[in-house]
Amino acid sequence: MPAYAVIGAQWGDEGKGKIIDFLAERATVVARYSGGNNAGHTVMNEHGTFKFHLIPSGVCWPNTANVIGNGVVVDPNVLIEEIEDIEARGLDASTIVVSDRAHIVMPYHVQLDQLQEARRGDSAIGTTGRGIGPAYLDKVDRSGIRIGELLDTEDLTLRLPEIIERKNEILTKIYGADPIDIEVIFAQVREWAPKLSPHIRAAEDIVAQALENGENIILEGAQGALLDMDHGTYPYVTSSNPTVGGALTGLGLGPRAFGGVAGVYKAYCTRVGSGPFPTEIFGEDADVFRNAGPVGEFGATTGRPRRIGWFDGVAGRYSARVNGFDSMIITRLDILDGRESVKVCVAYELDGQRIEKFPIDAVLLERCKPIYEEVPGWTETTAGLSDPNLLPAGARNYVEFLEKLLNVPASLISTGPERHQTIVWRPIIPEA
Ligand code: IMO
Ligand code: MG
Repeated sequence: MPAYAVIGAQWGDEGKGKIIDFLAERATVVARYSGGNNAGHTVMNEHGTFKFHLIPSGVCWPNTANVIGNGVVVDPNVLIEEIEDIEARGLDASTIVVSDRAHIVMPYHVQLDQLQEARRGDSAIGTTGRGIGPAYLDKVDRSGIRIGELLDTEDLTLRLPEIIERKNEILTKIYGADPIDIEVIFAQVREWAPKLSPHIRAAEDIVAQALENGENIILEGAQGALLDMDHGTYPYVTSSNPTVGGALTGLGLGPRAFGGVAGVYKAYCTRVGSGPFPTEIFGEDADVFRNAGPVGEFGATTGRPRRIGWFDGVAGRYSARVNGFDSMIITRLDILDGRESVKVCVAYELDGQRIEKFPIDAVLLERCKPIYEEVPGWTETTAGLSDPNLLPAGARNYVEFLEKLLNVPASLISTGPERHQTIVWRPIIPEA
């Protein structure tokens, strides 16, 4: 009956979408539990190449329900566009369900996100500018609008004027921006309601029913543990909980539902936006990573070049602990092909002291210098491999090095962006 969580273990962009598309063959439900369209999940299979921002990555399988849970914030314009796009490409969008309790990212949230970032100047967080932070802020402030309210727009029409009035005070008095025209918002609501109504349901019932039926569920993480509002490098974080606890509150699950919690780690590290990144490398060394492989290191949501660094074992151990990972999924191993050696950060130096514990405080972390171990590389190519027996000895050694460093066994290894370019080192979902 179990649910298997697939969670970003670094700063996002670990390749979660590809892994979930691979695993979804054996699941009847794939469910997103946090974040919004700040996520960009690239999926490549026989149906083509997709970049999902809101739609769960199980949508390419015909019999899988794709649930957007109550913990997600939903920009209706983006969801409608994604639904229309996959329908145009021959996929079945009727499998998409959005929780009536998911909060809406309103146009003023997007506007406020961008105004706030501009105001922050040098201390900008480097958000995706998609209104995610302001939408969660309103949720916590108890002034948010939930998707279910689109089912009765009359009530919403009564509630909106007061909300808009408050937003207009902020927009005009604090940011000197133009006020929102409430008629424009009403028009949006009228457009969203009929398009989204068929998808709005009590999502937790679908999840509960699948568990009761003994079916497999994949919990699709977005962002990464180090971007978690509570456990990440605050304030350079996203405004939700991508870590495992977010899956419980974001879908209404109990801990006994879990069959496994897998952390997705890139074979090196990347980060988009501001904030500390101890193993960061620059210049041409970083460009080699950025331009390697069929899909380069550029943000799937904003197109920004990603910051690049070596694998960070200190951060990796921390994220395994706060999530209770029982296995590690290693992605983009092929990008390390052809190197004489690969650097792995095994500890930090902080004020002359060697430390092995991750300092969560962003100011302290900024002062940490990585202590590297050089692991021998491999000359053979791993790109596209799916047979574990064909993995070259050097690559196998690297995988085993990471397993020991994190004290977490590897389950899947990804050797390319396509679904089939996946090595099952140890199965995540047991054979039926
Ligand atoms: P996936 O699911 C990479 C980063 C942003 C910024 C910070 C806060 O593709 O791994 P936000 O817009 O969330 O308020 O921005 O978080 N960020 C991501 N980076 N991949 C993501 O999602 C991200 N979602 C947010 O770059 O630094
Ligand atoms: Mg991303």
